[in-house]
Amino acid sequence: MTSRFPAQPELAGHPYFQFRNNVLYAEDVPLSHLAERLGTPLYVYSRAALKAAWESYRSAVGQRPVLVCYGMKANSNLAVLKEFARLGAGFDIVSGGELKRALAAGADPSRIVFSGVGKQAWEMRNALAAKVKCFNVESEAELRRLSEVAQGMGVRAPVSLRVNPDVDAQTHPYISTGLKENKFGIAIESALDVYRSAQSLPGLEIVGVDCHIGSQLTDISPYFDALEKLLDLIERLAQAGIRINHLDLGGGLGIRYTDETPPSPKALLDHVFERLEARGLGHLHLVLEPGRSLVGNAGVLLTTVQYLKHSEARNFAIVDAAMNDLLRPALYEAFHGIRPVHPRAGQETVYDVVGPVCESADWLARQRKLVIEQGDVLAVESAGAYSMAMASNYNARPRAAEVMVDGDKHYVVRRRETLDDLLKGESTLP
Ligand code: LLP
Repeated sequence: MTSRFPAQPELAGHPYFQFRNNVLYAEDVPLSHLAERLGTPLYVYSRAALKAAWESYRSAVGQRPVLVCYGMKANSNLAVLKEFARLGAGFDIVSGGELKRALAAGADPSRIVFSGVGKQAWEMRNALAAKVKCFNVESEAELRRLSEVAQGMGVRAPVSLRVNPDVDAQTHPYISTGLKENKFGIAIESALDVYRSAQSLPGLEIVGVDCHIGSQLTDISPYFDALEKLLDLIERLAQAGIRINHLDLGGGLGIRYTDETPPSPKALLDHVFERLEARGLGHLHLVLEPGRSLVGNAGVLLTTVQYLKHSEARNFAIVDAAMNDLLRPALYEAFHGIRPVHPRAGQETVYDVVGPVCESADWLARQRKLVIEQGDVLAVESAGAYSMAMASNYNARPRAAEVMVDGDKHYVVRRRETLDDLLKGESTLP
């Protein structure tokens, strides 16, 4: 069958985001309608895409003893959290604020693990009161504080040590966490000693070993290297009389932003369980903390072209979304696909797609071939993870609205901030 329209390469969020008759849809909703009705910048999520990403973990787990804790820092919108809670997910939290949000979304506290390098006493108290599954502890000082807080409450805190296995995750330096020079975790050489001191503290109960080596991993071998080092440690712990129940293997599986081919949850789990069996550790339970791979390609950011500006050196498409809405390009030089939701025929021009914020780092995409005019709506792909979650009010810009599509329906899951919202909570001197 011949089409009136040029072939569109698949979006990163295919098939939940795809073209029909030359209009980009999220599930059964044309994105142009959402932009018209709700304005831009606008985050659009697909419920079916969230479910499918969850299913890729669930089916990979099968009957094996694995708790999948959604790394909610990637996208902590309540509707997203609620969807995962309904599907049976646990949650990986890193702050008292995330605990509050997870509980508000109906999370089961016995499926929450508390990670993070700087837990404060009030955050520990809240998490102990909620009875979370485990604290992933990152230093001796944190162990001592946690023990004191727990003792004060007359309970024992379940702990894993986050061990830093010193492997190179071969990802962007800002999102690599498992190297010696990173601030995270406890060096694997000192881990046995630190476990011994944890054992001697009255307010703690050792339950596991934890690690996280980095994010957006597109090669599986760093995981496997880390795993072998952790299994060696678990053996040494057993010899020292310290028995653990679970191994928590960070987050990290990448997603396709452009042409990456990230490993699947199944490839990871099959290998991990094979190695556990081979090393006589088949009794261990596993915890995973995926963030990006559950939500990254379940969202796009819609933005409208305000101006086209042509200069000698560059052509700029100035859009209404900016680094305050989507920081990843500015912070990591991250690539996000970008395309008009209603493509037009014509001569392609190479554009830098930039926002209105007063910073040269305020760009969303560079050197992209586009056929666009003022007023066109563009979709920035792969904007479900670390996108709205990292948004700010820089330049006194109200944060975007978020909408969840479900079949042919859509629900606003966070209203757009108003100008009045921007003034809330502040006061001036008398
Ligand atoms: N668990 C812990 C302890 C983490 O630190 C992270 C992410 C995760 C789980 C989830 O990892 P994931 O599955 O998403 O790779 N803002 C950066 C990513 C920072 C990741 C930080 N830690 C970005 O936009 O690429």
